[in-house]
Amino acid sequence: MKVLVVGSGAREHAICWRLAMSRHITYVACAPGNAGIATCAEVLPIGATAVNDLLKIVQEKGIDLTVVGPEVALEAGIVDLFESRGAAIVGPSKAAALLESSKAFAKEVMVAAGVPTASYDVCSTQEELRALCARKGAPLVLKADGLASGKGVFVITDPKDFEPAFEMLYGPIRAEKVVAEEFLDGVEVSCIFACNGDDLIPLAPAHDYKRLRDNDEGPNTGGMGSVCPSPRITGAELEWIQERCAAPILKEMKRRATPFKGFLYAGLMVPRDRARRPEGMRVLEYNTRLGDPECQAILTRLASEPHELLEWIAGVRKEKPTLTWRSEVSTCVVIASNGYPEGVSKGDEIVGVDLAVLVPSAVVFHASTGVNEKGKLVSQGGRTLSVVGLGPNVESSRQVAYKAVDLIQLKGRRVRRDIGS
Ligand code: AMP
Ligand code: GLY
Repeated sequence: MKVLVVGSGAREHAICWRLAMSRHITYVACAPGNAGIATCAEVLPIGATAVNDLLKIVQEKGIDLTVVGPEVALEAGIVDLFESRGAAIVGPSKAAALLESSKAFAKEVMVAAGVPTASYDVCSTQEELRALCARKGAPLVLKADGLASGKGVFVITDPKDFEPAFEMLYGPIRAEKVVAEEFLDGVEVSCIFACNGDDLIPLAPAHDYKRLRDNDEGPNTGGMGSVCPSPRITGAELEWIQERCAAPILKEMKRRATPFKGFLYAGLMVPRDRARRPEGMRVLEYNTRLGDPECQAILTRLASEPHELLEWIAGVRKEKPTLTWRSEVSTCVVIASNGYPEGVSKGDEIVGVDLAVLVPSAVVFHASTGVNEKGKLVSQGGRTLSVVGLGPNVESSRQVAYKAVDLIQLKGRRVRRDIGS
């Protein structure tokens, strides 16, 4: 079987790495890929949103199945195009991907499906939002409606932070609609479900660390680390989340004639107080893809054959697969470049990856890396590497990950030291 993976991050590196290990998969390509992906897949210089060129290469190379990593490709309509030409693909249609690309739409579907979520209002103008914020006061959470790589959300706990949020929302972000939502306290968990439109299979739950600095301080980022399986929830709680927060969405999307196929990622806020669970759990958001960096921690633990799962999602396999997981825990630590997430430094040399990959039970996935004219590995800005450690428990897996992280050098790098602690 020949597979194309679309994207260029550490998530896509983890997907390619896992597929390349399968004896059922004879060829893995990745577009546009990165310097690390080139070690386990053929890298094709086609951008993730160049959907017509991607279809052409799939037809030329006789690729059996395409797996979409990033939301931008989904929003560009890759799945609609491929399915209209009979090309098997893992991902939701553009209409179903609205669950991620429009926060207002996601809220509307959650309410229609009876999913527990924070109460909210949608504001269409700046005046409306200002009036609402003046009335409600802090704490309040403001979310730009469209895709913003995790940077369009403002958690306002101090009223003085309203004004800078308005400046961002109506300045660089150019928000049209803004969702203003009740503030929820607790810990976050990422529950990802493989879906084929009718039915779903839970992946092992994970959690990520969205803030830049230790102790959940600093700005929101795309994600600075992850742990799988997340010790934050029990198996019974995951079942409740499946029943109450994922299955009803599938049913509602099918009812709307936009069935959801692909990976449905429910981001939840879970009360710290166990007595308030499961009823106090709330969905914060849906993503319509595998999470990054959750995917890196999840796929390093996947023991069963990935092609069966992917074919089932794409509708080319009827029999529902059973997933099996390695017993180890995985901890993923992200190395971001100097200045992330604001201004990012590019072209800085990365040293030591060759040593880090030798640490037993460690795996290094590349995100924005490249090779310069001197043949040296360099950062291309943003999140640069994801380092995963596996171990019998969270503590040992984080020790493996940080041992490998500490062998890597990148000037001014940003790394959290508290992942998994
Ligand atoms: P989202 O993109 O909607 O997941 O929001 C990004 C991050 O903002 C989440 O991972 C949370 O850390 C935080 N957040 C979002 N909504 C809320 C909320 N209602 N209450 C508290 N924090 C939130
Ligand atoms: N880790 C959060 C995300 O992928 O959006």
